[in-house]
Amino acid sequence: MDTTVYRPTEQTPASSASCARSLTKVYGRGAAAVHALDGVDIDFAAGAFTAIMGPSGSGKSTLMHVLAGLDQATSGTVRLGDTEITSLGDDALTRLRRDRVGFVFQSFNLLPMFTAEQNILLPLELAGSPVDRPWFDTLVETLGLGQRLTHRPSELSGGQQQRVAIARALIAKPEVVFADEPTGNLDSRSGAEVLSFLRRSVRELGRTIIMVTHDPTAAAYADRVVLLADGRIAGDIENPTPESVLMGLEALRTLEQPAVR
Ligand SMILES: Nc1ncnc2c1ncn2[C@@H]1O[C@H](COP(=O)(O)OP(=O)(O)OP(=O)(O)O)[C@@H](O)[C@H]1O
Ligand SMILES: [Mg+2]
Repeated sequence: MDTTVYRPTEQTPASSASCARSLTKVYGRGAAAVHALDGVDIDFAAGAFTAIMGPSGSGKSTLMHVLAGLDQATSGTVRLGDTEITSLGDDALTRLRRDRVGFVFQSFNLLPMFTAEQNILLPLELAGSPVDRPWFDTLVETLGLGQRLTHRPSELSGGQQQRVAIARALIAKPEVVFADEPTGNLDSRSGAEVLSFLRRSVRELGRTIIMVTHDPTAAAYADRVVLLADGRIAGDIENPTPESVLMGLEALRTLEQPAVR
C-alpha cells in the first residue's frame, strides 16, 4: 500500500546519530490500547537536519520522546550514537539526557527568574561543566542575542525567547537536538529566523537536529523530511521543498481514505 516505502539498512551506519529498529510504543491496555508507534525503523544521519511530519496523532512527539530517552519504548531498540538506550536504567538515562541530547519545545520553557545568559548556561551549571566561552559567543552572535543577555524571558519577544531556548539546547554540544514544533508559537518572521538558525547550526556548526513540524515551509528548511502515519514511517523526502512536502502529505491523505480505493 505504501507509495514511498522506506527501507533502512540492517546495520546502523557509523554516521547514524540516532536510530530505531522495530520500535513500538503502546499506551494503555486491552481495548483501550493506543499503538502510537507501530514498528518504526529509521536512521537519522549525524550532521543532518531532519524534519518529522504527519497528521495529528500519527506519533511524531512519541517518536521524538522515545528517541531522546524521555519515554520508554514498549518493544524494539533505540540507539543514540553507539548506545542502546532501551536497556539503560533510570540513572543512566538521566545522565544521557543531560549530557548527550538537547531539547527545544513549542513553549520555550525558560526559567522566568533567570536572565537570558543564565538560561543558556543552565545545562552546564546543572552538569557542573565549564563554560566554553568561544562556543557561547558563537551561539550568542549567530542567534543575535548579544544585546539581550541580561534580559529576563518576560522582557523578550517570542522569537528571542525561542532563540535563547535554542542556545540553551546547543550550549553543551549535544549529539542530537530534538525540537518539537519549535516555531509553533512564533509569527512567520520569527519562525523563519529560528529555522534559518537551526539550518545554520547544522551546516556551519556541525550539529544534528531532528524537528517535528506541521508546516511544510518549515520542513523545507531541513535536509530530509520523514513522514509518519498511524505510528509507521510512510514516506521519506530528500532535499525537500514546500511543494514536494505538500505532495507527500497529500499522498498520505489519499492513503488514509480507504473508501477512495
Ligand atoms: N501519555 C499518553 N497516554 C495515552 N495515549 C497517548 C499518550 N501520549 C500520546 N498518546 C496517543 O498516542 C498517539 C500519538 O500521539 P503523539 O502525541 O505522538 O502524536 P503527534 O503526531 O505528536 O500529534 P500532534 O501533531 O497532535 O502533536 C495519539 O493517538 C495520542 O492520543
Ligand atoms: Mg505532537
